[in-house]
Amino acid sequence: MTDTNIVDLRSDTVTKPTPDMRQAMADAQVGDDVFGDDPTVNRLQEKVAELLGKEAAIFVPSGSMANQTAIRAQTQPGDEIIAHADSHIYHYEAGAPSGLSGCSLRLLPGPQGRYTASDVEAAIRPLDSHFPQSTLIVVENTHNRGGGSVWSIDSIAAIRAVADAHNLKMHLDGARLMNACIATGTPPAGYAKYFDTVSTCFSKGLGAPVGSAVAGTAATIRRVHRFRKMFGGGMRQAGIIAAGALYAIENHIDRLSDDHDNAKRLALAAAEMPGLSIDPDSVETNIAYFDVDENAGTAQSRCQTFREKGVWMLPVAPQRIRAVTHLDVSRDQIERAITVLGNVLGSQSAV
Ligand SMILES: Cc1ncc(COP(=O)(O)O)c(C=O)c1O
Repeated sequence: MTDTNIVDLRSDTVTKPTPDMRQAMADAQVGDDVFGDDPTVNRLQEKVAELLGKEAAIFVPSGSMANQTAIRAQTQPGDEIIAHADSHIYHYEAGAPSGLSGCSLRLLPGPQGRYTASDVEAAIRPLDSHFPQSTLIVVENTHNRGGGSVWSIDSIAAIRAVADAHNLKMHLDGARLMNACIATGTPPAGYAKYFDTVSTCFSKGLGAPVGSAVAGTAATIRRVHRFRKMFGGGMRQAGIIAAGALYAIENHIDRLSDDHDNAKRLALAAAEMPGLSIDPDSVETNIAYFDVDENAGTAQSRCQTFREKGVWMLPVAPQRIRAVTHLDVSRDQIERAITVLGNVLGSQSAV
């Protein structure tokens, strides 16, 4: 099957740079960024700081490094980080908060990756030498395992008030912050102002091949810079990839609404199919989770059958499948995916 026949819904990280993005990368002016000499990296960092309304920003290779350098810069070994039980920093970053920063995690429950200010208040440790010290709260927006769910400004503001009352810092895992902004009409700085540090990714919905950034005060970003080096993330002629990120910021933010429409269309159609369940209202941005009925096989077996017919999705639990829309999935391809899912589920008995 050729690339053009495949509808790859496994993740929004699978996008390939567009011809214009590749051209911008080929044309990029570069220098040695470890010396601070790369003009394109410098331009990207200034642009991200401005977009997020922060004093400074730093380009890093990945979303995980963005989160983990921000965590390391704002905690001490023995501290405790408050985060959702489904958060990316807990599940998918190889245990880095403990491995790299020596911190434990206090995990909060809550629907679709969201918790409340009172959950946070109840989780903060008393100032007592027996306890780990709560120092940092991490919010993920949009929330990946929560189904691309979006946080409201009101709930974030309420958590900030608790953080201030107890002298805690807040980090935003904004790998998909731009999806939240497009879904709600809130500008990036409108979310970022509640956080001490913000990470954001260029290589997810924005379609750049690589790169993320951390933004915050100049003093915090100086510390992040040090930990980027320590964690092996200092890059040399990084302007080549920074140019892809700049191109993505300038050209690919507004179009995220197409991805959101496509995810909703897929969810609405799948909700009518036998063997799959999804609440279309739970799809707020570009991520949809489907539950596979036990009598319709497993997520693994269903994904295998869909894949043989050119529709790639990700089994994420024994009965759970994830589909993510992105720059390289058109509305026509979504319609094709719907036809394939409908044919497979309508015509096949349990596996
Ligand atoms: C919410 C969230 N944060 C962080 C990351 C980490 O990004 P990376 O894969 O670039 O390390 C991801 C990756 O999918 C993510 O979904």
